[in-house]
Amino acid sequence: MNGAIFFSGKYGSTEQYANWIGEATGLPVFNIKDSKADPLKYDYLILGSSIVYFKLTIRKWAKANLSKLNGQSKVLFSVSGADPSDKLERWVSKSLPSVLLSQMKHVALGGRLDHSKVGWSVRLMLWIGSLINPDPSASKEERFGFDHVDKDSIEPIVEWIRQFQTVK
Ligand SMILES: Cc1cc2nc3c(=O)[nH]c(=O)nc-3n(C[C@H](O)[C@H](O)[C@H](O)COP(=O)(O)O)c2cc1C
Repeated sequence: MNGAIFFSGKYGSTEQYANWIGEATGLPVFNIKDSKADPLKYDYLILGSSIVYFKLTIRKWAKANLSKLNGQSKVLFSVSGADPSDKLERWVSKSLPSVLLSQMKHVALGGRLDHSKVGWSVRLMLWIGSLINPDPSASKEERFGFDHVDKDSIEPIVEWIRQFQTVK
């Protein structure tokens, strides 16, 4: 079986996870912005996406390429500030067609927010968000940033891919 990882992210943490999973499994890694990357060339797909403003950033590409992803998409990893929760699952399910979601295992991974890497308008939005966020720890993270990126957290995905390749 011939698999590949397609990811969408802006500030590097989703790409970092995609590369770690690629290194551990030998699967090729593609940024969805790479127009030469064609999901149809692969038998199965691992999708990775950051979450920005409560939505998966891969959503538009996923909808536009639904016919190429349908049937082949096996794992979705999301990368976010929020920890795994029902709220996070709702953001994910609102971002993607249910036909796609129902065929994927979802793994939520921790992201990184480095204020020195975002523009002033994003910093302003995050600061305003921190003022109205009712969750004190999430508010603090919006204001000062955070780093929850953890290489070990890819292990369930790597294990899933190894088992899938053995069974097929
Ligand atoms: C403008 C902006 C909005 C964000 N919105 C959310 C959000 O709604 N929920 C969340 O859990 N994390 C949010 N985050 C945190 C990102 O998911 C986190 O920084 C992630 O690691 C970004 O992935 P990337 O480095 O691949 O771009 C936001 C980050 C930024 C910069």
